[in-house]
Order: sequence, then structure tokens, then C-alpha cells
Amino acid sequence: MIAPIVRSLAGLRAQTAVWRKTGETIGVVPTMGALHQGHLSLARAAREKCDRVIVTIFVNPKQFDDPDDLKNYPRTEEDDARKLESIGVDLIYVPEPDQIYPDGFATTVSVSGLTDMLCGESRPGHFDGVATVVSKLFAQTAADFAFFGEKDYQQLQIVRRMAADLDIPIEVVGCPTIREEDGLAMSSRNLLLSDRSRVYAPVLAEVMEDMREKLKGGATMAAILPDAKARVMAAGFNDVDYLELRDGLDLSLLDQAKPEARLFAAAWLAGVRLIDNIAV
Ligand code: PAJ
Repeated sequence: MIAPIVRSLAGLRAQTAVWRKTGETIGVVPTMGALHQGHLSLARAAREKCDRVIVTIFVNPKQFDDPDDLKNYPRTEEDDARKLESIGVDLIYVPEPDQIYPDGFATTVSVSGLTDMLCGESRPGHFDGVATVVSKLFAQTAADFAFFGEKDYQQLQIVRRMAADLDIPIEVVGCPTIREEDGLAMSSRNLLLSDRSRVYAPVLAEVMEDMREKLKGGATMAAILPDAKARVMAAGFNDVDYLELRDGLDLSLLDQAKPEARLFAAAWLAGVRLIDNIAV
């Protein structure tokens, strides 16, 4: 059954009120649409854990630092609804922009510290936009559980911090990164890659896996980074935003592997920015 698509906050609340009354738990999966297996894995995790599942689709203008990126972001609502059909979600919330940002909207949720590095450094304002829209979606759905992918690991940690700091009674569940067969992390942005770029895109993950093996063997980042970056560039990437080893909890910079260490990368391939991260 295709889940009802609800476009207003009033409509959403009318439905969640009924579920609350009967004591059903609610899980929310926030997305920007153009759904792929990565998103669907979150919806499945929600389906397993919660009585009711809401998937939200909202291309959030506040988290785009580049107007072209916002304009080009894929929008595939009908396909998305069809993909969710097989999972059996209960409601798809596709809010009209004024349901999230009504006239006069003046509040920004800003998480300090965790947002200063990695994608926060190269995309100023991005995580304020994410924290703001996610806190709205948490308040609007009043869900008990929220499902986020480790694919956007920094985002996951920021959302956890935000929910804890604001006493939002929601459990944030992190879910593993789903990859294509050749290792490329699934992303809506992969749709923007040309056939030729798509061939080279998995090199980023390959290089990261090699780095992981070397780090596990005791190598330092200082020793292996130049060669790793050179390999990414040689594959046709135009720029490496960052390629760093960090603590998986507080995201502090590391030079050597330790429990909780993760490798983080962002790189540009023919105008498309790809990100990835793996546990070391
Ligand atoms: P979006 O990029 O659509 O991603 C929605 C959710 O899907 C995020 O939690 C993301 O980490 C997860 N996801 C994406 N690719 C994945 C993969 N390959 N494997 C597992 N999970 C994956 O992230 C956003 O949207 C937005 O910032 C949002 C949180 C919706 C706020 O606007």
C-alpha cells in the first residue's frame, strides 16, 4: 500500500495524535528524497523497531551553501513513494516550505564544536541548517526514535548532541552505510555523476580501505596521507576537501589508530562533492 503523503503540519499532527492515543511508538526517518537503498535501510530499521514509521522528504534550503546545488538537487517524489511501498511505512511527510519556515521564521539551532571541522569547515552554515530543520522535524513528528545514516557521520553526531542538549525525548539510532557493489557509498548525489566519473568514484573508498589497513598496522597519517591523496587525484578527482583520521565520538583529530577512530573524506569529482567515512 502506498503510504499517504501529508503536506501540512496540521495533517501530520492529526495522524500522530491518533497513534499516540493508542500508545503506539513512532519512528521518523528524515530525508531529502531521491531515495536509494541507503535511505530504505533506515526505513527498514524504523519498521523493525517502531509501531509507526514516518519518512520525511524535504529539500531543506537552509542547509545548502550553493544555490546551484539546491537547484540541481534531484527531486523524485513519485518514485520515492513507490520505493517506500515495499517497506510499509505509515506516512510520508512532504511539508510545503511554509510548514517548516513560515513567514517571520527567525530561529537557528547551532551546535558548536562538532560543526567547526570536516564538512562544517568547507560548507559554512550547512550544519546550522541541518540542526534547525532536524529539530523542527523532531518537534513536528514528536517521534520516539529517529534514524540516521553513518554515511553522514558528522551529521549523526551533531544531531545526537542537539537532541541531548535540547532535552528532546527522542532516541537517535545510527545505521551502517550502504554501498554499491564496487564500494561507492550510496548517495543521492551519485545521480549527478557522468558515466565516466561514476567509474572512478569508488577509488575514494578503495584508498580509504587501504589507509585503514596501514593504520591498523601502526602507520601514522603523516606517513600515508601524501600517497593516499595522490591516488585520489590520479583517479580523476579534482580536489580533496579533507582526508582525516578522527575520534568517532568527539571528532578530535588523530594521527594514529585507536578504538573509535574513523577515517573521513570529502572530495570533488567533476563538480560533484562526494563524502565517505569508515571505522578504523
Ligand atoms: P539525505 O542526504 O537525504 O539523507 C537522509 C538520511 O539517509 C541521512 O540520515 C543519511 O545519513 C542517510 N543515508 C544517506 N546515504 C546513506 C547510505 N549510503 N547508507 C546509509 N544511510 C544513508 O542527510 C540528509 O538528507 C539531511 O541533512 C537531513 C538529515 C534530512 C536534514 O535535512
